[in-house]
Amino acid sequence: MGYRVVVAGATGNVGREMLNILAERQFPVDEIAALASRRSIGTEVSFGDTTLKTKDIEQFDFTGWDIALFAIGSDATKVYAPIAAKAGCVVIDNSSLYRYDPDVPLIVPECNAEAIHGYAKKNIIANPNCSTAQMVVALKPLHDRARIKRVVVSTYQSVSGSGKEAIDELWDQTKAVYNPTAEYERKVYTKDIAFNVIPHIDVFMEDGSTKEEWKMVAETKKIVDPAIKVTATCVRVPVFVGHSESINIEFEDFLDEDEARDILREAPGIMVIDKREDGGYVTPKECVGDFATFISRIRQDNTVENGLNLWCVSDNLRKGAALNAVQIAETLGREVLKKG
Ligand SMILES: NC(=O)c1ccc[n+]([C@@H]2O[C@H](COP(=O)([O-])OP(=O)(O)OC[C@H]3O[C@@H](n4cnc5c(N)ncnc54)[C@H](OP(=O)(O)O)[C@@H]3O)[C@@H](O)[C@H]2O)c1
Repeated sequence: MGYRVVVAGATGNVGREMLNILAERQFPVDEIAALASRRSIGTEVSFGDTTLKTKDIEQFDFTGWDIALFAIGSDATKVYAPIAAKAGCVVIDNSSLYRYDPDVPLIVPECNAEAIHGYAKKNIIANPNCSTAQMVVALKPLHDRARIKRVVVSTYQSVSGSGKEAIDELWDQTKAVYNPTAEYERKVYTKDIAFNVIPHIDVFMEDGSTKEEWKMVAETKKIVDPAIKVTATCVRVPVFVGHSESINIEFEDFLDEDEARDILREAPGIMVIDKREDGGYVTPKECVGDFATFISRIRQDNTVENGLNLWCVSDNLRKGAALNAVQIAETLGREVLKKG
């Protein structure tokens, strides 16, 4: 006996990837429903070898469904997650709405799978921000060995992190550069994204940082350790899929770069590609469609006591969203619901 699974936001970047990953990982599904807004009623989406017709979430009855993977943005989540949860369906949510709620576990299974048992307070589990997810997979095993004091991270985030409209914006702007008569309208970003980089993701906060940067700080503390200090600069780059991060880490104890490389090689969810030669590192284009978070350029930082630098790349639609959500569903199944 398997699970009755709902994918909400099935027509979006993350929702489509959730359907792909449920099929790829052979999640024990007895029945599956694809939901989106009324705009998408009847839109066909793929689930393995089958095609599903999308239904309107507003008309959907969650009673009797086991797990709902949500990727519909915070506003719609605010309306529908409590309805699903009240009907007895466990919601695994990709939006930021519940991430900082003390009654909702925020989970990256490689780091804090044991937090799953906290789901029952609200019947909701939160999935972290894409840039946090890939970073904490790398930080956790290093923290367990040498205690991280401080992290300085700069991100290079792809446009797919801003939804399907952003992919079109990069595509249309890029074409318009070569065809000056083509017109394009900026809808998602405040400056051109084609052949440019934008040091601004999400809204500005009072202290001058952006919400995306704040999320990396708050979520790392909730998932790994509240004692870790994080300072982040989040930047959008003209890449379709795959987020990259330059991460500088300061530890309590000395950690040699070779030992760090060995620890990361053994760590779950990580693939180390770190040859000190031309092309001996991973770029975002190469990580698309992969489950792993890739680590390259591991090297000592001798400008601080016990410092290390590394380069971290992952498919933001997978580890940063859909894969992590499915891994949470797998953990929930294995530890709590025990079907399948
Ligand atoms: N992309 C990433 O890397 C990433 C990473 C982590 C978290 N997330 C989060 O995941 C969520 C989805 O992101 P995305 O990139 O997949 O966005 P997207 O490509 O723009 O897709 C949005 C999805 O939400 C649905 N939706 C929007 N408003 C709705 C409503 N009122 N009722 C029902 N469905 C509604 C859309 O349905 P229609 O097609 O019918 O409009 C579509 O299926 C967001 O909360 C985002 O913050 C994204």
